[in-house]
Amino acid sequence: MKKAKIILDKDFEVGKIDERLYGSFIEHLGRAVYGGIYEPDHETADELGFRKDVMDMVSKLGVPIVRYPGGNFVSGFNWEDSVGPVENRPHRLDLAWFTTETNEVGLHEFAEWAKKADSEIMYAINLGSRGPENARDIVEYANHPSGSKFSEMRIANGRKEPFGIKLWCLGNEMDGPWQMGQKTAKEYGRVANEAAKMMKWVDPSIELVACGSSSSEMDTFGSWEYEMLDECYENIDYVSLHRYYANPTGDTPGFLARTMDMDEFIKTVVAICDAVKGKKHSKHTVNLSFDEWNVWYHSREQDNEIWKQDKWNRALPLLEDIYNFEDALLVGSMLITLLKNADRVKVACLAQLVNVIAPIMTRNGGGCWAQTIFYPFMHASKYGRGTALKTLVDSPVYSCTDYDNVPYIDATATVAEDGSVTVFCVNRDMEEDFELELDIRSFGELKITDHILLHHDDVKAVNAEENPDNVAPTKGPGGSVENGKLTVKIPALSWNVIRLEK
Ligand code: AHR
Repeated sequence: MKKAKIILDKDFEVGKIDERLYGSFIEHLGRAVYGGIYEPDHETADELGFRKDVMDMVSKLGVPIVRYPGGNFVSGFNWEDSVGPVENRPHRLDLAWFTTETNEVGLHEFAEWAKKADSEIMYAINLGSRGPENARDIVEYANHPSGSKFSEMRIANGRKEPFGIKLWCLGNEMDGPWQMGQKTAKEYGRVANEAAKMMKWVDPSIELVACGSSSSEMDTFGSWEYEMLDECYENIDYVSLHRYYANPTGDTPGFLARTMDMDEFIKTVVAICDAVKGKKHSKHTVNLSFDEWNVWYHSREQDNEIWKQDKWNRALPLLEDIYNFEDALLVGSMLITLLKNADRVKVACLAQLVNVIAPIMTRNGGGCWAQTIFYPFMHASKYGRGTALKTLVDSPVYSCTDYDNVPYIDATATVAEDGSVTVFCVNRDMEEDFELELDIRSFGELKITDHILLHHDDVKAVNAEENPDNVAPTKGPGGSVENGKLTVKIPALSWNVIRLEK
């Protein structure tokens, strides 16, 4: 058996974990809303038309914040279309996803859903086809108590108390040519700055996320962040990062190494934020909002076929990636990467939540089930709260197409408020189990209370409505603690959650 070592020290902290690290995302796209969270004819639908079976699954994930209503969708969206009597709401062509948006679910309905899900809303405004004036109006509508045009409009629409939305995205991926109203970094930075000022003048308690690059693979990545921040640094609170990974060639070791890129991406954006802070002699620190992350590639061809046949229909089954076991391992590793950087990444959104590149799938009129990626997210969200620890991992390494020195063992650890410790660990080795030795002396007496394991012999194994537990957690082999050293067996190709308590 191969061996790896980890040193944990209770005083060696990355920082407090912001619970918003376990956020997710629901866009008016495909069957995320219509046929996902909302299906009034479904046997489990509540009085508002929301599926209770889906809500139960969302609750299991424990999602404290949900980004809404897009995504690319927001760059052509008029928020006014989504409020007021449903029968008066217009049907609009959505140029982001070539569907028709009926606006049956809008801000008021989604706020009710979010309340039931015990989530806050992270609301994305349109800075593509619209500008600062409209940004000001939606903050007034959502958050101003009363006595002004838009707050009174909200009250007339049946909502006396303000929605109190605290976190707002200043548009979405404004560097992308696929975006309605694409901008240069300077153009966007100027518009974002003016929108930010006006939004905060209406409600000074809000926090704002400015668009970073839509991916670290954009040619303008780096210069976009610097130039954009140079325009709006003092008035924004976070820069967004988006990243999706793919494995089109079936190269599992290379795919599982992609978190090396994610870590580098985060560290580069942190460096740029701090460089702008230095240049401006500022006391303000801008943190990171990794508000779109996941695996995304399985559904691309299917989507092109759908658009060939079915453009402009409502709720087209778009971006319905069926996730396999290796995707769950990468998602686990992505969660580990977010935790390792929890001092600067304060918000993160698994993109997305239901049906659209999602951990939860539904069939219209039928059941709902957990995809493979559901489990690492649920485990991290449940146990990865409190404080993130700096974890020194000494592991053998491998080389693959894009990287050298990829550790077979990718791991991190957290301490909860009750003193319990959780170690999250992915073994990237295709063949060999590891004996993992953890030095936990600084914690005093700890014993293993659980070892949760996610493993399947077939990296391409998936879950389906008729076989929902094909890839599901089981009990891991566990281990023993002696003289402050924990020894635990980590099976080849696996996601592990090791729980330790006094
Ligand atoms: O999450 C799907 C899409 O990916 C989002 O709409 C967009 O922001 C990104 O390109």
